[in-house]
Amino acid sequence: GLTMDVVLQRARPVLPVLVIEDCALAVDLARALYAGGVEVLEVTLRTPRALDALAAIRQELPQLLVGAGTVIHAEQFQEARDAGAQFAVSPGCTERLAAAADDSGLPYLPAVMTPSEVLLALEYGYRSLKLFPANGNTSVKMLKSFKGPFTGIRFCPTGGITADNLLSFLRLPNVACVGGTWIAPDNLIRARAWDQITQLASEARALAASVEV
Ligand code: 3PG
Repeated sequence: GLTMDVVLQRARPVLPVLVIEDCALAVDLARALYAGGVEVLEVTLRTPRALDALAAIRQELPQLLVGAGTVIHAEQFQEARDAGAQFAVSPGCTERLAAAADDSGLPYLPAVMTPSEVLLALEYGYRSLKLFPANGNTSVKMLKSFKGPFTGIRFCPTGGITADNLLSFLRLPNVACVGGTWIAPDNLIRARAWDQITQLASEARALAASVEV
């Protein structure tokens, strides 16, 4: 089956974190991202119709990998799966969330912020972790420090990533990809500025192409 490691590899350089208020715009948004080279995206369960948006994208764009993000309650794993989610992402991790992720069978990307949280995630068996929130150069330094003790762990820093700091993260050998909303900001979605969203995605790819992996 699909593993989180493979999801993050396919997402590189950027896993777009989508906050979709108007469900009717979901498919156009996903198409715009796909046109910019995006193959994996995360629909956050922060808006009332997020699951409908996710289902619509899955239906219309089967070539994409679509995950549910901001999964903060155990029951959301099954709801996400039922809506067609292929993976799940949380802004942290708890024992109950890890158990619910297991039950759902969905590949899961829990988040960490500290070394002890990394150790706990390792105890649960995770090797791909979100780092949340990523905090500019402080987080770049922290991820460099994580490289020593946490061999083989791959991170997806998210929260505060932009085109300006993207490369400092992608250059780190333990960064699989980054996540972020900057690639599809709310104002551009509302304005249906699909070409601009395509361009933001393309720009991220072009920037990342200069990084040796
Ligand atoms: C997330 O849930 O990963 C963050 O809200 C994304 O943060 P950003 O808006 O700073 O990209």
